[in-house]
Amino acid sequence: MTIIAEVKELTIRSSDNQDLVLNSNFSLHAGKTLCLIGESGSGKTLTIKAMLGMLPNQMKMSGELLFKGHNTAHFSPREWQRVRGSQIGVIPQHPEQALHPAIPIGRQLGDVLRSHISVSKLEAERKVRRMLEKVSLKTVDKLMKQYPFELSGGMNQRVMIAMALLLEPELLIADEPTSALDVTTQADILSLLRDLTAESGMSSLFVTHDLLIAGYMADTIAVMYRGEIIEQDSTMAVVQYPKHAYTKELWQCRSPFMLS
Ligand SMILES: Nc1ncnc2c1ncn2[C@@H]1O[C@H](COP(=O)(O)OP(=O)(O)OP(=O)(O)O)[C@@H](O)[C@H]1O
Ligand SMILES: [Mg+2]
Repeated sequence: MTIIAEVKELTIRSSDNQDLVLNSNFSLHAGKTLCLIGESGSGKTLTIKAMLGMLPNQMKMSGELLFKGHNTAHFSPREWQRVRGSQIGVIPQHPEQALHPAIPIGRQLGDVLRSHISVSKLEAERKVRRMLEKVSLKTVDKLMKQYPFELSGGMNQRVMIAMALLLEPELLIADEPTSALDVTTQADILSLLRDLTAESGMSSLFVTHDLLIAGYMADTIAVMYRGEIIEQDSTMAVVQYPKHAYTKELWQCRSPFMLS
């Protein structure tokens, strides 16, 4: 199976030499979803930041981060510009913070497209419209002219998903993309993401602290605890035969809901 990205012996230390992430290892396979799961502060977001070349400057990192066989630790800002946003799509936790408040949705998405590939304004607009329809947004004509503050949280997150998928990335990274949404909207967005990743065949890394979501989304689950991956296996194995006491605890809290 083709490996798209690999994290090898990733260690991240704070400026005062605390291990925030320790010896993490995982691989992302084409067409598969890996969920990083763990409680708040366990190192999920830092792992993602390292993979995107966006760690805070004061942190020290060791290990290897491979994307399509290239060690991204050596990427120049120019190389990152080519990869981030186009070959690796990112969906943030808070779409409102990622979208520009004063630029209409249609133009924001069009600009993203045109900053990576050379297309006419008309062709860009056509692609943006198609993508907005794909993420099940209605009234696309009106939406193209609207600003983020005019949309609900769920609609803005759909816009972010459209933006992340616009350039047909090979890898999608989503850091708790539904935690700011109400339960019903969360379910709609998760189901949309699952359909879109399955349809496109891309690889995805999905971060959550919710086991129900990990069980629904992932082919493989990696459990993080205080900076370390303490357990990693197929979703079925982690759900049915959790090995580590911490994972068992997580499942015990959640399993009655899983069965309902
Ligand atoms: N910019 C930073 N400077 C110093 N310490 C940081 C910084 N960012 C994160 N940390 C610390 O690193 C650890 C891991 O943080 P991280 O944000 O990766 O956790 P997380 O698993 O994403 O948690 P959450 O579920 O709350 O998002 C935490 O102890 C956090 O306090
Ligand atoms: Mg986080």
